Amino acid sequence: MMIEYNNQVFGLHGEGFSCLLRVNDYGLLEMLHFGAPVSTGDAEAFVCRPGLGWGASVLLKDGDTESCPDVLPLAFSGSGRGDYRESPLCLGGVSTDFRFHSYEILDGIASMEGRLPQAKGNAQTLKIKMIQPGAELTLYFSVFSEVLTRRTVLKNTGEMPVQITKIMSSMMDLPGNFAMTTFDGGWIAEMRKHTVKVTQNRVVNESTTGFSSYRHNPGFLLSEPDATEKSGRVYGFNLIYSGNHYGSAQQSLQGFTRVLQGISPDNFLKELQPGESFESPEAVMAFSDGGFAHLSLKMHRFVNTCIVPEYWQFKERPVLFNNWEGCMFDFDHNRLINLAKDAKELGCELFVLDDGWFGARNDDKAGLGDYTVNKKKLPYGLFELAKKINALGMDFGLWFEPEAVNPDSDLYRAHPDWALTDGFIPITGRNQLHLDLTKPEVRDYIVENVCGILDGAPITYVKWDMNRHSIALGAKAHDYILGLYEVLNRIFTPRPHILLESCSSGGNRFDLGMLCYGPQVWCSDDTDPIERLTIQENLSYLYPQSTFGAHVSAAPHAQTLRDTPLCTRGNVSFFGCLGYELDLKHLLKLEREQIAEQIAFYKKYRAAFQFGTFDRLENGWQVTKEKIALAAVFRKLLPAAPGYETLRLQNLAQEKQYRFSTFAQKLRIGQFGSLIKHVVPVNLDPNGMILRTADRLITMPDGNQRLTASGAALMAGVRLLPLFRGTGYDQNQRTLSDFGSDLYIIEEEETLENT
Ligand code: GLA
Repeated sequence: MMIEYNNQVFGLHGEGFSCLLRVNDYGLLEMLHFGAPVSTGDAEAFVCRPGLGWGASVLLKDGDTESCPDVLPLAFSGSGRGDYRESPLCLGGVSTDFRFHSYEILDGIASMEGRLPQAKGNAQTLKIKMIQPGAELTLYFSVFSEVLTRRTVLKNTGEMPVQITKIMSSMMDLPGNFAMTTFDGGWIAEMRKHTVKVTQNRVVNESTTGFSSYRHNPGFLLSEPDATEKSGRVYGFNLIYSGNHYGSAQQSLQGFTRVLQGISPDNFLKELQPGESFESPEAVMAFSDGGFAHLSLKMHRFVNTCIVPEYWQFKERPVLFNNWEGCMFDFDHNRLINLAKDAKELGCELFVLDDGWFGARNDDKAGLGDYTVNKKKLPYGLFELAKKINALGMDFGLWFEPEAVNPDSDLYRAHPDWALTDGFIPITGRNQLHLDLTKPEVRDYIVENVCGILDGAPITYVKWDMNRHSIALGAKAHDYILGLYEVLNRIFTPRPHILLESCSSGGNRFDLGMLCYGPQVWCSDDTDPIERLTIQENLSYLYPQSTFGAHVSAAPHAQTLRDTPLCTRGNVSFFGCLGYELDLKHLLKLEREQIAEQIAFYKKYRAAFQFGTFDRLENGWQVTKEKIALAAVFRKLLPAAPGYETLRLQNLAQEKQYRFSTFAQKLRIGQFGSLIKHVVPVNLDPNGMILRTADRLITMPDGNQRLTASGAALMAGVRLLPLFRGTGYDQNQRTLSDFGSDLYIIEEEETLENT
């Protein structure tokens, strides 16, 4: 990567992309190019020449159409001074007109002044200063190997206060026609993908709930009309921020699409006193001309190397057991120990005690804020519990929700003024209020409290939850997030070995800001694997699978009542950080065996599942790491008489030979109901004892396929064993029907000389 300056042009070059900026004669910063690699000397090819101009446009200098800000592609702009497209900066209803002043090129990143997290790692940074009377704007551009980041700092250099009502981290004018893809949803319905054409109507991806939110993930994509998974030009955008965000795209008459990224201006207001500065969060952007898959790969590598805490980079994550879906609030020391014994036997490595271990927390109505152990449930305390679990051979992890408080709690009774208020009667969400993290005494309390617990027992994992939307508006919403970052920093920077998984009613805060503190996020309270196919696949556009908390839970499922085979529950959760979250007590022996096999299998291939190259296939997912690939095909509803299915693998070496085999799976007898009479001589009652008992004890092999072929053949497409077609059971067919799945291991064979 390299940043250079030559003849009024800045060239920012990373792997597979270049960005060219030009300071024009009027001191405007033109956005000449962001896309495929070019050289800085190519600038002339990208300069827009307005010629006779467009009617009714405003010129900075009479008679010179090249001084028309409205028709030039720009990298930042002002308000009311001739560029009538969406402005990245609004200063309390007055015009702004910043012009180029100076620049600096720095090795590495330019550290932020305040508490916002930022990307780290190998980088070069361009710092451009723009000025207008009374204010100074600094634009930071950092080139990481495959990604460009940007942020904005505004300084009041005048004598009077300056009001900021909108300040974007990044602005880009990109030529061409695009569709914008956003990831939207809500509780248990995260990451639903929507794509709309970008025209002269503005398309906005925004959160106004106080947090990054599952309503609209901060990440979005722009793609050209012919872009596919494997070809075409695609841009990816994200923000290293956990609060209200804003992203927009709008095409101008001249054919440039203006893309803005930053804090949502909704109800935003920040007053800067003379000498004060405001820094925006860091925006992330990436480009690929190799389609969505390649764009995702760049985003994945960036998150894995420049976002997540260094300690956890490429460190394999433990298989965990979480007691929430199995117990909810109903547990005690003995029940937990029994669960832990079972979990250990199955192969789990970490036991996580979720909500309900403290204060009067027997449901979600009370106790939040009082992190003293509930002695009725845990008479021996956390230390003893953790020690017992350690003695079983497992690590111990704990749930907290430190940002919130129940009005029915000792903390609230002692400090009602610590709750975040807006001057009206308090309104609760999940029976709780927020603590006001803009107050230093609240932050100190949280840090002392949480650290006291973390240091008082051998705790190696924290699930940091947050279960309501905020009421904080404007600058306070931003200050709240800064307070949160301070708290996270104070707790976890001195304790890097603690694996932090953030959670917010599931994926309500799945963002790059939280990932700077903890490398995993609980994707969704919806653990139904068929739902997870959507959630995890759509997350994969922007985030690597190492960031996905993915658990196997009970069937029928709590959110959908769908009864999904255990193998599919496992096969979906494998593509992330695997955990189990169900009551183990009532599992059948054959289910236990299957889970033990799943965990052993996952551990063997864990590095590939967590850190391998992820591919979205037509009918499933694949991960590839060095000589190993793992691919799953998933079924939703099986049609009658289905045709042959082809699995087109990716990323293999054309000329190498591979062993292709199924991760063996089994069928339950009960799946066949009364149909069993067709294969046994006696007419058995499908609801009778014999079949019910057989269902618990006997399994039948299902569609185990083995072959050897070249990478070229497997990438051309391997024909899978046929699916059930209403013509009977055959172990050489895939009989698992609706919501079934198959997982394949593809291993490079040693070359003949080596064997
Ligand atoms: C939220 C989380 C769940 C669980 C509960 C506990 O809903 O998303 O995983 O931790 O809180 O109350």
